Amino acid sequence: MGTGIAEVAARAGLPTYVREVTTELAARARQSIERSLAKAVERGKLAATDRDEALGLLTVGTELGPAAARDILIEAVVEDLAVKNALWAEADTLARPETIFASNTSSLTIAAMAVASGRPDRVIGLHFFNPVPVMGLVEIVPTVGTSAATVDAVLALAGRLGKEPVLAKDASGFIVNRLLVPYMLDAVRMVEQGVGTTADIDTAMRLGTGHPMGPLTLLDFVGIDTAVRIAEIMFTEYRETRFAPPPLLRRMVLVGWYGRKTKRGFYDYAQDPPVPTDLGV
Ligand code: 3HC
Repeated sequence: MGTGIAEVAARAGLPTYVREVTTELAARARQSIERSLAKAVERGKLAATDRDEALGLLTVGTELGPAAARDILIEAVVEDLAVKNALWAEADTLARPETIFASNTSSLTIAAMAVASGRPDRVIGLHFFNPVPVMGLVEIVPTVGTSAATVDAVLALAGRLGKEPVLAKDASGFIVNRLLVPYMLDAVRMVEQGVGTTADIDTAMRLGTGHPMGPLTLLDFVGIDTAVRIAEIMFTEYRETRFAPPPLLRRMVLVGWYGRKTKRGFYDYAQDPPVPTDLGV
């Protein structure tokens, strides 16, 4: 998601630094943004001059310092509190005192990052949706300790990025995932129980409710590993069975079927068009 956020920021005319952990990942991130911008130009959604301007505003590297030195640092690292807090602690030693720290977490409690950040009044949740250049929403999640000035600054940034902001309480899953995660997990339970086939469950929700993707296609899109991680965090928080990752989903993670990114999940993406995977249920 980090590359999507960076693309949107650069397209909005903001000087943007992307920090990746290795030079190989940094090169891949730049390529991914270049490809996405090229597609937008091809489709007539972006002028070639605007693409060049956006690319000129974008720097990709492996140092945290230049990222921390900006007005706002947005993290989109793995959904693991210890990893995020290690990042915030390091960033706090590098950043200007007024820099805002924003987390793109989808399920972790923002307040749990406030102490590690060393700047609890300038810590806030800023949750984007995939694909970031397309989805119009951003959830803004202040903690009890976030200052009003920080909320105002992030609301202004959302507007600048062309996203509609909604304010959500610092409760795991915020608004969207609180509803979306149990919905997707229920679809998996329906597969487990043989209520419908993968293809029929997706078709039913696409054509029956006008969703752009069915829930199982959406799980492949989000990433099965990511979905399990989010569900586990939400289950730990709420202890409600509707957030518990179903056994089938855990098994898919064990065999490396993470969805689109590994070319196999509920569908086999090595086929064109993708065909439902035989899940042995
Ligand atoms: N980057 C930029 N643009 C993209 C894109 C990408 N990765 N993927 C698609 N697009 C653009 C296309 O260029 C196209 O634009 P156009 O209509 O102006 O030409 C438009 O999106 C539609 O794309 P396609 O025609 O190729 O394909 P679809 O019509 O199937 O749309 C989709 C693809 C936008 C992904 C659509 O299926 C969709 O909205 N799916 C639901 C996505 C969703 O629910 N996201 C939220 C996931 S949850 C989340 O992120 C939270 C996390 O915490 C889990």
